[in-house]
Amino acid sequence: MTDKELVRKAIEAKENAYVPYSKFPVGAALLTKEGKVYTGCNIECASYGGTNCAERTAIFKSVSEGYRDIEAIAVASDLDDYTYPCGICRQVIVEYGKDIKLIIAKSENDFRVHTIEDLLPNSFSPDDLEKMDGGNK
Ligand code: THU
Repeated sequence: MTDKELVRKAIEAKENAYVPYSKFPVGAALLTKEGKVYTGCNIECASYGGTNCAERTAIFKSVSEGYRDIEAIAVASDLDDYTYPCGICRQVIVEYGKDIKLIIAKSENDFRVHTIEDLLPNSFSPDDLEKMDGGNK
């Protein structure tokens, strides 16, 4: 699966976005290390805090199906610009690895590639909790 193919899947996934409030559809496509693809869209809620972003929809689909080894996540919106994951999604992404690749697409042919560590430097992550098992108690 190339970055471009994953971007195409994110663009397609955007079609299912449920965005009656923001009218801001977002699509995501997640590639697991096993080569499986899980897509997601944003799903809004009349009680706005219940909204789920496209990235987290894709992650929760993958994890709930037993796939936690995430290779890459592509993200696309309708803007003629790059749409970066929000802070909550960045924190959820880093849960599954600091080297996860993020492909932020303006279009099928125009995308930027980062790692989650680029976008969430000095993060709090599962590594920090593991340190407690050592001499920290
Ligand atoms: N949103 C996403 O789904 N992913 C992003 O990367 C940025 C924001 C959604 C949340 C909400 O449904 C809408 O975009 C406007 O904030």
